[in-house]
Amino acid sequence: MKRKYTFQNAGALLLIMLIFSALIAGCNGDKVPNQQTALDKKVDSLVAQMNLAEKVGQMTQVTLAVVSKGPVYNPTMPQQIDTAKLKEAILKYHVGSILNVVNHAYTRDHWYQIMNEIKQVTGQSRLQIPILYGIDAIHGANYTQGATLFPQELGMAATWNPGLVEKAASITAYETRASAIPWVFSPVLGMGRQPAWPRIYETFGEAVYLTRSMGKAIIKGYEGNNIASKFKVASCMKHYMGYSFPLTGKDRTPALIPEEYLRQYFLPPFADAVKAGSPTLMINSSVINGIPVHANHHLLTDILRGELHFKGIAVSDWEDINKLYTVYHYAPSEKEAVKMAVMAGVDMSMVPNNFDFAKQLTELVKDGEVPMWRIDQAVKRILRVKFELGLFNHLFYPEKDYPEFGSKASQDFSRKTAEESITLLKNKDQVLPLPKKKVKVLVTGFGANSMEVLNGGWSYTWQGQETDKYTKDKNTILEAIQQKIGKSNVLYAEGTAYDKSVNERKALDLAQKADYIVLCLGEMAYTETPGNIDDLYLPDNQSEFALKLAKTGKPVILVLTEGRPRLISKFADKMKGILMAYLPGNEGGDALANILFGEVNPSGKLPITYPRYPNSLETYDYSYTEQSQHDYNPQFPFGYGLSYTNFKYSHLKLSSDTISGNQKLKIQVEVTNTGKREGKEVVQLYIGDLYASIIPPVKTLKGFQKIDLMAGETKTVLFTVDKQDLSFVNSQLKRVTEPGEFEVHIGQLKQKFHLQ
Ligand code: BGC
Repeated sequence: MKRKYTFQNAGALLLIMLIFSALIAGCNGDKVPNQQTALDKKVDSLVAQMNLAEKVGQMTQVTLAVVSKGPVYNPTMPQQIDTAKLKEAILKYHVGSILNVVNHAYTRDHWYQIMNEIKQVTGQSRLQIPILYGIDAIHGANYTQGATLFPQELGMAATWNPGLVEKAASITAYETRASAIPWVFSPVLGMGRQPAWPRIYETFGEAVYLTRSMGKAIIKGYEGNNIASKFKVASCMKHYMGYSFPLTGKDRTPALIPEEYLRQYFLPPFADAVKAGSPTLMINSSVINGIPVHANHHLLTDILRGELHFKGIAVSDWEDINKLYTVYHYAPSEKEAVKMAVMAGVDMSMVPNNFDFAKQLTELVKDGEVPMWRIDQAVKRILRVKFELGLFNHLFYPEKDYPEFGSKASQDFSRKTAEESITLLKNKDQVLPLPKKKVKVLVTGFGANSMEVLNGGWSYTWQGQETDKYTKDKNTILEAIQQKIGKSNVLYAEGTAYDKSVNERKALDLAQKADYIVLCLGEMAYTETPGNIDDLYLPDNQSEFALKLAKTGKPVILVLTEGRPRLISKFADKMKGILMAYLPGNEGGDALANILFGEVNPSGKLPITYPRYPNSLETYDYSYTEQSQHDYNPQFPFGYGLSYTNFKYSHLKLSSDTISGNQKLKIQVEVTNTGKREGKEVVQLYIGDLYASIIPPVKTLKGFQKIDLMAGETKTVLFTVDKQDLSFVNSQLKRVTEPGEFEVHIGQLKQKFHLQ
């Protein structure tokens, strides 16, 4: 008989687990169930004292620019708080939250100054409810000078090492609190399955299982067991949901995603993150199946609250309530847009440039258009998070409590994550690693001497284009190579800018004197709509430059620093070596040099398919029908990445060829390092369902383990799967496991088993 796993069942299970874990926690003297009630009481009693203006104020979030001295955009100096404006925001409009920064990364001192002023003005308010300050800490505390900047999420996923991701997030949490801020707008849990989308680098890639694993790890790192800790922050799951899959690849353009696919591919990372305790969630700015998500009651209330049992804050994305009217032409007026969004389930509006939301919502309540229960519900969710963060006691902690801010150890750790992310995609004739002695290396390409290209968007500023100003003490790829082999052994000419030639002749002349060419191509920094492209190929000048360099006969090693897999099929076969660096962050130059010269053995694996052609944008979990029409033939497949050693897979064994009921299947495989040096390998478990009532993918990632093997060493790797791991969402929108035949794939090995 088919056993069905429904979301309701999952919810019931969750409840039992919660009660159970609360009891265990109680025994440890940790969180006891009563505290939950105590918190509820505190929240209820505060709400009972609030008037309407104070309530809608809590639901209002404005940008720092609104309370800063002008001119706020394009400023040359970091913004100073304008006390009169701040008083208007807090004392007149009672705003509950402020966000971000404008065109600057501030010093810690400056952040403390801002937060102190906010605290003082809040202290003058009737109920003294603390402001919840939120910031885009996307790959480190990237709006604070001197903070540790890590690889962007896609690079983090390429490490296939959740332990690294958790620790990186805990450093980010520490450094964000060290900037007096308790709330980060991270992680992105959208699935990176549309390679042209300018934010794919903010995702953990295309595989649901990898995103779920990394999502849980990053939340644990941000939050630990207690977000009131002075070293932890509240995370914000983004962008719920389906935002990452625009049909055209352009940011904030519509997606068409049938609900079974939404539930199969896009919902699970959010469901896990809710279970992991993430207390806030940001809503998809865009449109799915014709309905803007900010107005979608089914997604925001039926599923998010009814099925996932999310208790926290659902915050809008930037200006998105108003855009229901101005951009989407969905609501016929601004006021109607506010009503639609609030009634769909948005608790807090990132307005963020004025107080119109508060004014309109007040009118709507007075006119009986929005009921008071809905306001109270939203306000309670917001206050609950403020209590959980401990903001009523400590809006922030003393600056001196964070001696490890931007420490050498944290920066070394960032380099280590970059080293584990960088993915060796080609190594013809073992051209890598390069010799360190008696060698002349030409370093060229527009990415060679820029910190901007290593960091991408969300670095010091929104678009990340000022990065070089803030990172004078960091090594570009060129500088790192110079340090590694001595300046006199390195030749340099830019050769090409992003989309036009520069100094090309000089670079080609220098190539004649070089033994090797390290060619750094890729993308400039961007995020969101400014990062939209019309052509996934790298610009022509970059590919032509690569071909000209290859013609010199010197071995060319291509280093890609890019936020998405820009196509390289016009010249990839002429390259001797290819390294994908993603956006490796501030220590990326050093990490690359360590890999190029063999001090570190690369172990990154692609978390996305690297396409070969613009009209062949498959993902690794393609269907049998795609396979029968043409082979999955990307430039490089998902999960791929070479090492300076070799690994052999053998002895794939299944504990049984049939499982039934609640039995678990044990899968084991032996992995041997057959090369001459130590290396790390990511052992990837894929399972294919041979026949299913929604056509099945040939294989789906179901597990992975990153292991370390000395030269000659063999390890046995064990995976366990059960029925739940073999489930999918059927056309009745139920999660089910259907009996039948399945096939395990690990490395080149395959074996079938039967589920009864
Ligand atoms: C982005 C979010 C971000 C927010 C605040 C929006 O435009 O989509 O990811 O957190 O701005 O800066």
